[in-house]
Amino acid sequence: MNMKSVLVVVSLLLSVAIGLVLGRGGVARDPGEKRPLIGLSLDTLKEERWQADADLFKKRCEELGADVLVQAANGDDTRQINDVQALISRNVDVIVIVPHDGAAMAKGVQAAHEAGIPVIAYDRLIKNCDLDIYLSFDNVKVGRLQAQWILDHLPTPGKGRIVLANGSKTDNNAFLFHQGAMEVFQPAIDRGEVKIVWEDWTEDWKLENAKKIVNAAISKLGPNGFDAVLAAADGVAAGAIQALHEEGLAGKVLVTGQDAELVACQKIVAGTQSMTIYKPLKKLATKAADVAVKMAGGNPIIATQSVNNGLIDVPAILGDIFAVDKTNLRETVIADGFQSEKAVYGSAPQN
Ligand code: BGC
Repeated sequence: MNMKSVLVVVSLLLSVAIGLVLGRGGVARDPGEKRPLIGLSLDTLKEERWQADADLFKKRCEELGADVLVQAANGDDTRQINDVQALISRNVDVIVIVPHDGAAMAKGVQAAHEAGIPVIAYDRLIKNCDLDIYLSFDNVKVGRLQAQWILDHLPTPGKGRIVLANGSKTDNNAFLFHQGAMEVFQPAIDRGEVKIVWEDWTEDWKLENAKKIVNAAISKLGPNGFDAVLAAADGVAAGAIQALHEEGLAGKVLVTGQDAELVACQKIVAGTQSMTIYKPLKKLATKAADVAVKMAGGNPIIATQSVNNGLIDVPAILGDIFAVDKTNLRETVIADGFQSEKAVYGSAPQN
C-alpha cells in the first residue's frame, strides 16, 4: 500500500468513527450539499458543564440549518489531535475546539488551516498559533469574584487563612482564574490580613486530584488550619468538600466554585459549598454557533475585543459572569432557566 492509499484508508476509518459517535453512519458528504457542517472537538463530555455546552451549541446550529459533528477526547491530547484530523477529513466548514491542552492544540489549528478550515477556540484559549477567533467569558473576573466572596465572608473579618485549589495547568483559563483571585487577595496579603497557607493545581481538573490537595492541606495544617478553600470550579469544590467531609469540616470552611452545576447548587442550599460562578452557557454556545455558521458561509465576524495568545492578538468575544450564593440562586441560575427550582431545592420549594 502506498502512502496515499494509507491516508485514504485512515481517513475513511476516521470518518466511520465520527459517524458512529453522531449516528450519521459515516455517510460521505454530498459535494453539492449546501448545509454547513461544523466540527466540535471537546476535551471531555464527562463534566456536566461541557455536556450542556455541546447540547446548546448543537441545537443552535441545527436551528440555523447546519449539522454538527461532535468529538470528545476524554482529556487525552493525542486523541484530541486525532479528533481534529478526523473532522478535517470529513471536510467540515469550521472547527470549534475546547482544548484539553491549550498549548498542544496549536498543532490542530495548523492542520485545520492547512486544509483551509477556520478554527474557533471555545471557552479555553489555544496558544501560540494563528487562531481565527476566541469565544469565552471574562475569566479573570471569575477569580476576582471568588476571592472577593471569600474576603467578604471570612468568619473573622480581616483575618483569613486560604487554601488555593487551582485548576489544571494545561488550561489557560486556570491561570486567568488564579490571576484574578490574586489581584484581590494580594492587597489583603500585603496588609497582613490574609495568608495563602496551601496551594496546588488540580491535574486535569479531576475531582480526585482536588480531594488530594485538600487532604494534604488538612494533614499539614491540621483541621483548624484554614478558613476557606478557593476551589477554581465546581468539580474541584466537589473533591475539596469530600476531603472536608471526612474530617467533619464540611460546612465549616468556605468553599468557592464555578459553573453552577446542579450538584453544586444543591450543596449551596445544603451549606457545604459557599458559592459558585454562574456563566451563562446558553449565550456562549448560541454566539459560538452563530459565529461558526457565519464563518462557514464565508461571512465576516465582528469582534470588539482581543486576547493575545503568545503569537497574535486573537479577535475575541467575552461574556460576563456572576457570583452566586444562597442569597441569589433564584434571581440568577434559576430565573435564567439554567437549573430548575425543583432540582435545586428538591420537590418542596423553600423560601
Ligand atoms: C472552564 C470551567 C470548567 C473547567 C473544568 C475551564 O476551562 O472555563 O468552566 O469548570 O474548565 O472543566
